[in-house]
Amino acid sequence: MRKKLVAGNWKSNGLLADARSLAQALADASWSQAVDVAVFPPYVHLAATQAILESSPVILGAQDISPFGVGAFTGEINGAMLADLGCHYVLVGHSERRSLCGDDDDALSRKIERTLSSGLAPILCVGETLEEREGGRARDVVLGQLESVWKRMDHAAGPQLTIAYEPVWAIGTGHSASPGEAEEVHRWIRAWLVGQMAAAGEATRILYGGSVNGGNAAELFRCQNIDGALVGGASLKIEDFLEIYRRAANSRNK
Ligand code: PGA
Repeated sequence: MRKKLVAGNWKSNGLLADARSLAQALADASWSQAVDVAVFPPYVHLAATQAILESSPVILGAQDISPFGVGAFTGEINGAMLADLGCHYVLVGHSERRSLCGDDDDALSRKIERTLSSGLAPILCVGETLEEREGGRARDVVLGQLESVWKRMDHAAGPQLTIAYEPVWAIGTGHSASPGEAEEVHRWIRAWLVGQMAAAGEATRILYGGSVNGGNAAELFRCQNIDGALVGGASLKIEDFLEIYRRAANSRNK
């Protein structure tokens, strides 16, 4: 049985006061035992968010991690720092980092390795562009992104992975993948995971991300292989985020 996870990626939004008020609203909300919830504040808001969420079930995550360890790496935030701040998850391979910040396969593999060696759990994001989808290459692109990380990582750590399928064309556009489109890709990912890890691949959570909101979440969560959501824009509005969470709590775990 896979427990769903609803994760809010705040991206590079808000000032400290905004992070504090969002965190306070999350701390005041009620959460079900049946569905996990996590938030990914900007680095500079992690400590303040953690202080407010400390005794709540909301799990903390980081949006990125340094590919380097401790030392002379100006501007970098390493895994030990993130673990020390109370992070559990780290997003790796978000399409914005791939396309805007130069995170290539090699950097992503190093980030996965740093995440794992810091005792943190990676959420590996994959997804095709519109052009790739229209060219019939979605499956090759998504599985290729998984392969490229897999072949460089310690396979014994495979069960610690969470996957987030985020079609680039659906991120921040207001046009979510339809449940059928998303589930088709989640099935490809599931088959790939089972091929690599057998039962552990069945147990791996695959989140969907890309314009998830209170209106489309229920249908997405009904799909057999959609085990939660990675939410961007809607995670900044407490009512929207709570509505998505309630939809997950009302759906059956598979
Ligand atoms: P969105 O972002 O919900 O705003 O589309 C999702 C994401 O990038 O994780």
